[in-house]
Amino acid sequence: LPVSVYSNQHEASVAVANRIADLIRSKQAKGEKAVLGLATGVTPIGVYAELVRQHKEAGLSFKNVITFNLDEYYPMKPTAQQSYVTFMYENLFSYIDIDKANVHIPDGTLDKDAVAGYCLAYEKQIEELGGLDLQILGIGRTGHIGFNEPGSAPNSGTRMVTLDDLTRSDASRDFGGKANVPTKAITMGIGTIFKAREIILMAWSRKKAPIIKKAVEGEISGEVPATYLQLSDHVEFVLDEAAASELT
Ligand code: F6R
Repeated sequence: LPVSVYSNQHEASVAVANRIADLIRSKQAKGEKAVLGLATGVTPIGVYAELVRQHKEAGLSFKNVITFNLDEYYPMKPTAQQSYVTFMYENLFSYIDIDKANVHIPDGTLDKDAVAGYCLAYEKQIEELGGLDLQILGIGRTGHIGFNEPGSAPNSGTRMVTLDDLTRSDASRDFGGKANVPTKAITMGIGTIFKAREIILMAWSRKKAPIIKKAVEGEISGEVPATYLQLSDHVEFVLDEAAASELT
């Protein structure tokens, strides 16, 4: 499994942002769209900040970019402070020239009966655009990627899932208490993520070191969904020294 370790989170974030910018520019040069899979959470914030900087200071345009976010809580109003819609606009979309019609984030407002059909359509939209060129990922302390918690199948698609207790504890600060954290989410599946032509998983800080060790060196198992990435030949782990500190 290719692992790149940077001395700090900022350098690592700039390196990932540069790869995204290179992809966007090379697609632009060919008159093509770049299809990006995006993550939320604290991990990619520095990447988005660097992309915004490059948009403002280096003329990086997102006019040819189409995005699909990994996940959204369910139920969740897009206008809520904790929604991943709010997160994406506050950290990226409000500051770049992306066409808002090209932004896709799972809809946390659907009726329960509508979710399965919506999830199939989400997959189909990605497929019809030729698939994801690049998927960026964080990792949860449960080993989740997207919200694919322990027990997720390697071929899973976009679907409604139940959040792990640890994931809800980790989210409790954003929600002012664990009781307020939704129990469910809509997430792209492991199978959806795998189909991306390139996958970059990022992790920073000592807090992520134990799960990074399991993900990179542990036995491949549904108990730690990120271990499935060991089976991919187009994945790279981008870490800071602290997150890499337990690797042998
Ligand atoms: C977010 C997502 C999650 C997070 C993970 C890490 O869209 O899919 O898998 O990447 O929970 O979260 P942070 O970055 O907040 O530590």
